[in-house]
Amino acid sequence: METTACVEKRRTIRKFLPKPVPKETIAEIISEALWAPSWGNTQPWEFMVVSGPLMDKFKTENRNALMSGANSKPDIQMPEKWPDAMKSRYKDVGRTLFNSLSIGRDDVEARMNYYGEMFHIFDAPAMLLILLDKSLLLEYALLDVGLFLQTFMLLACDRGLGTATLAASVHFPQVAREVLPIPDDKHLAIGAAIGWPDPEAEVNLFERKRAPLEELITWVS
Ligand SMILES: Cc1cc2nc3c(=O)[nH]c(=O)nc-3n(C[C@H](O)[C@H](O)[C@H](O)COP(=O)(O)O)c2cc1C
Repeated sequence: METTACVEKRRTIRKFLPKPVPKETIAEIISEALWAPSWGNTQPWEFMVVSGPLMDKFKTENRNALMSGANSKPDIQMPEKWPDAMKSRYKDVGRTLFNSLSIGRDDVEARMNYYGEMFHIFDAPAMLLILLDKSLLLEYALLDVGLFLQTFMLLACDRGLGTATLAASVHFPQVAREVLPIPDDKHLAIGAAIGWPDPEAEVNLFERKRAPLEELITWVS
């Protein structure tokens, strides 16, 4: 597939087919995505690919942590406040997403179940976790992680795979550390679900928007 087509086609996938993704395919995608640039070619990223029984255990424990109201302190803090323009985009995507699932505004139970699904990594068969050495200046290394992640997602999309970058996968780092062999000297930067997209699920198909160019760009010459 052409690069432009991949960029246009990739969407966050939130429903997967119950079909495993071969380890070789994930290894191939990661090897190719390693061509992403990084500061000074430092390639600060390290990976853990989770599948099989450990993935099942992680999904269950991560959802349990949400449902039981466990304390969370992600290694990379999520901002609590956003400027209005961004808050409104966030609300808009939430509204369209819940509409696609026919979940009403006040249906607290259905919304909570949905969040449970999210923390269950949308039942994806596999997950990529990106780890960063604790000695790194996080903000800076995260520029490189973002470049890797998008490259990874586009290459996955090119093979018909679906991905979802998930803050929900690293929201309870204590769960990942209990279930998975995360080395003590690594931060959990971010995780992404990987699997074969359900082509009929409305939650995969709803329209995503982007701000118009004129809202974002200042041309100077
Ligand atoms: C750093 C990051 C964290 C994200 N975390 C979540 C998440 O926890 N749950 C979720 O459903 N989507 C998550 N997303 C996906 C975004 O909601 C999605 O990228 C955005 O709505 C745009 O939609 P698109 O990816 O389909 O174009 C995350 C995306 C990024 C970049």
